[in-house]
Amino acid sequence: MQIQALKANFLEHSAELLVIPVWSTPELKLGSLKHLDPVFQKRLTKATKSFDFKANLGQVIVVAAPADMKAEHILLLGMGARSQNLESWREAAGAALNTAKRFNLQSLAFDLTGQTPAVAGAVTEAALLAAYTFETYKVANGQKIKTLDLVTNDGKNLAGLKKSLEKSLVVMDAVTLVRDMVNTPAQEMTPDHMADAAAAVAQASGKLIKVKIMGREGCKKLNMGAYLAVAQGSDHEPKFIHLSYTSPRPTKKTLALVGKGVTFDSGGLSLKPADAMMHMKTDMAGGAAVIGLFATLSHLKPRVNIHGIIPATENMVSGLSVHPGDIVRASNGTTIEILNTDAEGRLTLADAITYVLKEKPDAIVDLATLTGACLVALGEEITGLMTNNKQLGSQVMKAAQVAGEKMWELPLEERYREQIISDTADLRNIATSRYGGVLTAGLFIREFVNNTPWVHLDIAGPAYAERPMASYLGKGATGHGVRTLVELVENF
Ligand code: BES
Ligand code: ZN
Ligand code: ZN
Repeated sequence: MQIQALKANFLEHSAELLVIPVWSTPELKLGSLKHLDPVFQKRLTKATKSFDFKANLGQVIVVAAPADMKAEHILLLGMGARSQNLESWREAAGAALNTAKRFNLQSLAFDLTGQTPAVAGAVTEAALLAAYTFETYKVANGQKIKTLDLVTNDGKNLAGLKKSLEKSLVVMDAVTLVRDMVNTPAQEMTPDHMADAAAAVAQASGKLIKVKIMGREGCKKLNMGAYLAVAQGSDHEPKFIHLSYTSPRPTKKTLALVGKGVTFDSGGLSLKPADAMMHMKTDMAGGAAVIGLFATLSHLKPRVNIHGIIPATENMVSGLSVHPGDIVRASNGTTIEILNTDAEGRLTLADAITYVLKEKPDAIVDLATLTGACLVALGEEITGLMTNNKQLGSQVMKAAQVAGEKMWELPLEERYREQIISDTADLRNIATSRYGGVLTAGLFIREFVNNTPWVHLDIAGPAYAERPMASYLGKGATGHGVRTLVELVENF
């Protein structure tokens, strides 16, 4: 889809579908239509009545445009009560896009006269999120929407809209990359393939980003016993991926991003039941989100140095798999009793976090599809946020809110720490209680951050949508996390 912002008289613009936002308060107002031919205005008003159109958020009606207009159809887009809420714009834009898709229309124009640049960005995002399809493995590809024009009749406004549009295009390219990676089956999205994806991002950055990749031997030298224990049951070699971005702008700040990169989680010998294993190709979504963030950096050039760590591996079953009860030593010397081989994400993150501490980051943010318990606690659409630093926690929360990704803080309850202390090793990788598993997983990871300000994001729910998550976010991989990370690094 080609998206552009331009100055034009909206009602004279040519497109198959002209999208006109309409607000419900104080009463249904067809304000932007006041220049229309009075006869057509009457027809529209009649249509709003007979279709019971109240301009509720996402409500749409489509009417044929009069003969003297260049456009073919007009879509009245319900915006709900008037507000500056970007999420309403996303939701409404998604509804408009879905309508266009349903009727196989290929060119759209949105009236954004008088709207802020942020609105243009939100509409762009929602349109691209809604238009996304994963068709790599489909024989017949569907019809595509070809053009979306964001139209303003105000020349002064145009530069701002264009700038915001450009940024959203960069971010959405990254989100699309992540969705494709996460949707790609594990047979293809191996640790090696993830490493290639990271290397490609570095390659495209024009030297702003460097990449270092270690295999089993390299990780052995660094004593990554926890990560390697997860990898030892797989025929695919693990790939420990280290991306580093050095800001071309002066900065003393360093941020570390760590993403879980389990390319398939069978559970290991603590094997998952079939239904729980079905979508476990998505267990690398945190790592993919980190790679996605890096794909934006050469365009956005944020003023902060960034390390991205993805300990990629499969979690598989073989004669060499780690046994429940095995005790391993992580690279910081901590011993861990692996009582359940399905609690593997925290093992990979333990060594990844230890590794990145060498870079002396001012903050660490990890993203991981870590626990089913997070889904139980917060449902399918909300990320669980845990932190050892209130300020960093609210910084990430704020970024998520602006980005339109849902997150909610959960407590790192001190009293629960004893639940991850082993009888025979320093730590055990599952808690002694079957309750509160999202928190004890967070507490486990905290053991490795050494008081560095840190935020843990358990994205097990929203990384993958088993049912649509919004008008603009359909089934499958969502790219969750990328938009929040962009917001975070731009304001770090
Ligand atoms: N990858 C899973 C968590 C998961 C579950 C992600 C559902 C996405 C959807 C993780 O490795 C796992 O298996 N966690 C276990 C931990 C338990 C053994 C303590 C879980 O949640 O059951
Ligand atoms: Zn697991
Ligand atoms: Zn997992």
